[in-house]
Amino acid sequence: MALRTILEFPDMRLRTIATPVVNFDSSLSCLIKDMLETMYSAGGIGLAATQIDVHQRILVIDVSENRDKPQIFVNPTFTVSDQQNLDYDEGCLSIPGFYETISRPKKVVIHSQDQHGKHFDLEADGILAVCIQHEIDHLDGKLMVDYISRLKRNRIRSKLEKKHKAL
Ligand code: NI
Repeated sequence: MALRTILEFPDMRLRTIATPVVNFDSSLSCLIKDMLETMYSAGGIGLAATQIDVHQRILVIDVSENRDKPQIFVNPTFTVSDQQNLDYDEGCLSIPGFYETISRPKKVVIHSQDQHGKHFDLEADGILAVCIQHEIDHLDGKLMVDYISRLKRNRIRSKLEKKHKAL
């Protein structure tokens, strides 16, 4: 297992659209182990492969209190099952230190495959619904800052650029 480097906004590689996984082999399980290790080490509740510069449709999520219930989604999509929205203060490992209130559908049904290629559906609400939508956005090259005003986005961009230069 290995910790991977997490790309940070405004790195253009975060704008890459990921391609579907077709091979459910041992290299996929290795990658998923690395993603879990990287997510837990960074203290995040979700990580998309895009964030470690691997452009395949893979997500790991753990929204449990004890950080012991990893969920793995390969080629995930969702359908909205409740038109009501939920406002949630979202953070992102690729936008460290910033939280923004984003409004998203509060209930979704996730359609996905597991790491062996088996298809499953899962109804999600609350934080899992928020998280899966945030992470699927990553696979499509989209970031939570795309939902806020240009002014706020530019402020975050310049702060992170300053930080990256200082490193
Ligand atoms: Ni994120």
